[in-house]
Amino acid sequence: MRKQWICFWLCVGLLSLLVGKMPADRAVDGTAQIPAETHYVALTFDDGPRQGTTDRLLDGLKERGASATFFLVGEQAERYPELVKRIQAEGHQVGNHTWSHVRLEGASAAVIQEEVGKNDELLETLLGGSGYWLRPPYGLITPGTETLIQVPMVKWSVDPRDWESKNTEKVVRAILKDVKPNSIILLHDIYGTSVDAALKVVDTLEAQGYCFVTVEELLRLNGVTPEAGKLYRTGTGPT
Ligand code: NI
Repeated sequence: MRKQWICFWLCVGLLSLLVGKMPADRAVDGTAQIPAETHYVALTFDDGPRQGTTDRLLDGLKERGASATFFLVGEQAERYPELVKRIQAEGHQVGNHTWSHVRLEGASAAVIQEEVGKNDELLETLLGGSGYWLRPPYGLITPGTETLIQVPMVKWSVDPRDWESKNTEKVVRAILKDVKPNSIILLHDIYGTSVDAALKVVDTLEAQGYCFVTVEELLRLNGVTPEAGKLYRTGTGPT
């Protein structure tokens, strides 16, 4: 069995256990082949979706049995509704990255509510559900205004600055240098170089026993109950 499949089935087993769909003794198939220690990590993608890159990323993640989290910009989601639906249908987590990628730090309460709320409404219309987790653009929000946010907020612990170099090898190296169990990795699925880097990182880390899960799953695996208005940089708890 290829390692990524072992990882995939291990993830499926553990997640099923967490949601109580499977009895413990049947949770994990092929236990003997599972790497001694499994580490969990979350890939996150901002600023999409974008035709030509997000779809290629979804194909690659599916082949590898890896899950990720996508913080979507409303203007892009409105343009590519089929990609938004596909992201959710393939088991990834969908999050909110504001309607027009506005800086929330220093913004008025009215702007924060409009930028977050308008995107949330679109996601609810496209996907059903509600309470899409927020990644503030640039990871910033004015202290004190978190009380306006009704959902958990997600930052990151590994930033390869993929938007700056747009160089696959550099991005891969930067991630592998800093990644640890429970890391949250920041990437942008609007660049082909970042998609290539993400898939290389999945191949490398799955071979080392890492499983790629959504941010929500990563927190749950660590026994963390996500809270509205709190900022999470890793899977181990709020900052
Ligand atoms: Ni962004």
